[in-house]
Amino acid sequence: MNPANPIKFHVLTLFPQMIFDGLNHSVIKRAIDNGIIFINCVNIRDFAGNKHNKVDDYPYGGGTGLIMRPQPIYEAYRSIEGVDKNTIVCHLSPRGRPFTQQIAKHYAGQSNIVFICGHYEGIDQRVIDEIATDEISIGDYVLTGGELAAMVVIDATARLVPNVLSKKEATENESFENGLLEHSQYTRPPIFLGREVPSVLLGGNHKEIEKYRQTQAIEITAKRRPDLL
Ligand code: ADE
Repeated sequence: MNPANPIKFHVLTLFPQMIFDGLNHSVIKRAIDNGIIFINCVNIRDFAGNKHNKVDDYPYGGGTGLIMRPQPIYEAYRSIEGVDKNTIVCHLSPRGRPFTQQIAKHYAGQSNIVFICGHYEGIDQRVIDEIATDEISIGDYVLTGGELAAMVVIDATARLVPNVLSKKEATENESFENGLLEHSQYTRPPIFLGREVPSVLLGGNHKEIEKYRQTQAIEITAKRRPDLL
């Protein structure tokens, strides 16, 4: 553990409480409390720079909805300390590249990451072009804002940071680690609603158990995600 040098997730958002409320539980809360990860929410509205704290405006060229103005986002970004030109600045957007475990691993090796969460119909492209270094989508659907997507990315990234998970919670055999979905898991009782735990798991033969799990992982991947094979 290195609390002197936690990974810092900076989130530019109109809903900072949503980020705190969403992440302050379980494993991630423990990591925050232990000083291994640090979550810094910057409220974009604090940088609106006008009387009514308005952060959005009508789209040039017409169309429905409002667009987030570039200036407040830029100022919010500029207020963050400790970021430089090498810092990953990730805009969450359905137009982004699909988020994967591999990206999470890359992110987990950074010391600072900035997330930009859009709302309304989107963000003025010029501020994205100016500050964003990455654009990530968490799936082919449209959310009401980038916050849930940022939380997904932060959660998946944070658990790969050293010492966030305990040894018992290790990531070795989980889905995507070896290019496969994970095998099924069972605990007591041995029979539940008439459904039995596969007998090989009760036998104590570790070689057989390993073989069974590997076969099962391949079968389940072939059935559900043949694209991974
Ligand atoms: N914002 C809205 N929809 C999104 C998505 N699918 N992924 C990331 N950010 C988003």
